[in-house]
Amino acid sequence: MTCSRDPEQIILDPADKPRDDRSYLGNDARLRAKINCVKIFPKIAFISCVIALIVIGLGAFTRLIDAGLGCPDWPGCYGHLTVPHTYLAQKLVALEYPTTPLVIYKAWAEMVHRYAVAGLSLFIFSIIIMIISVKKLRTRVNIIFSLLLLALLGYQIILGQWTVTLKLQPVIVTQHLIGGYLILTTLWLIFLANRAKLGWNPDKKLLPWALGGLILVFLQIILGAWTSTHYASLSCPDFPFCVNNQTMPVWHIKDLLTVKTIMHMAHRVGAMVVTIYLFCFTMIAIVRLRLKPSVNKLFILILFLLIMQIGLGMSNVLFKLPLAIAISHTVTAVLLFLALATLNFHLFFKKVTHDS
Ligand code: HEM
Repeated sequence: MTCSRDPEQIILDPADKPRDDRSYLGNDARLRAKINCVKIFPKIAFISCVIALIVIGLGAFTRLIDAGLGCPDWPGCYGHLTVPHTYLAQKLVALEYPTTPLVIYKAWAEMVHRYAVAGLSLFIFSIIIMIISVKKLRTRVNIIFSLLLLALLGYQIILGQWTVTLKLQPVIVTQHLIGGYLILTTLWLIFLANRAKLGWNPDKKLLPWALGGLILVFLQIILGAWTSTHYASLSCPDFPFCVNNQTMPVWHIKDLLTVKTIMHMAHRVGAMVVTIYLFCFTMIAIVRLRLKPSVNKLFILILFLLIMQIGLGMSNVLFKLPLAIAISHTVTAVLLFLALATLNFHLFFKKVTHDS
């Protein structure tokens, strides 16, 4: 199958009706199927977004089960392409890596994450190659996004290696996490820029407010990543304050101020700021501005994701970081960020077609 360079060109030659024998897809050039790249391009971008979201979820899972160093080397696992599974291989690993013993389930968690990253990288490369090789896709917006994607992917691969070789240094893991979010967001923007014409043009006056929301959520995500990569998630086991089981009247603030509790509380204060801002912004937009129903839907989605995120964050604290809740908190943060990115995209570009 080849990509057609002309978007108006046929997808399949009408003469090429599917037969029982599908060998017509082989060498016979006359019967070769041609897929319209421009049409499948947004689908590929969308599938890439789904894979990127899965990669982010798997990354959170790996961190939460403490399997970040499940494989102490990179890109292989104890020098193998897969987790060493034979008795002999495991014996050799024990001799070669005496200080980092192999724990099978942790090594698999790490390797499944890496395989998913490899799959995502292939999709990203196909997107970049399509943008370079298909004239109709070579728009200014696509070129800018694809260059950004390439830079982010390169940096992310280096960070992935450093995450392992520098033994989970929080400053590296935090950047790795943010890098994953930015790659997904760029893929999402590519999807938005290339799908069919948009049906709505919201008021551009909203742009500075929407941008403010996007920046605040981004800063809040950095605070969250900072908290989790420093393993400060359980530093304040009570809610809403960080009392740590002390009785209120003899609450000595100085004793409670450790670096980890400050990180944790900064994330909570950040959540309060984000909540007040987004709540006011979305309510004013929904109630006062009489926007089109399609625009309203996006605001309602933002509000819904915000409420869900706060609930999940509180549950993280009160139920002591259950795996499913912690992963959902990560994924919902990404979805909230994507919803705000979508709003900003629509406000910024107003009307985007393939020819923009
Ligand atoms: C808009 C609101 C919020 C956003 C966007 C947000 C985002 C995030 C992000 C991105 C992480 C890092 C996840 C990871 O490393 O995989 C995180 C971690 C965390 N957040 Fe939030 N958060 C919000 C609100 C809250 C609230 C209200 C609480 C608690 C009261 C909370 C508690 C936590 C905890 C305990 C962690 C560490 C979880 C872990 O180790 O995986 N968050 N948050």
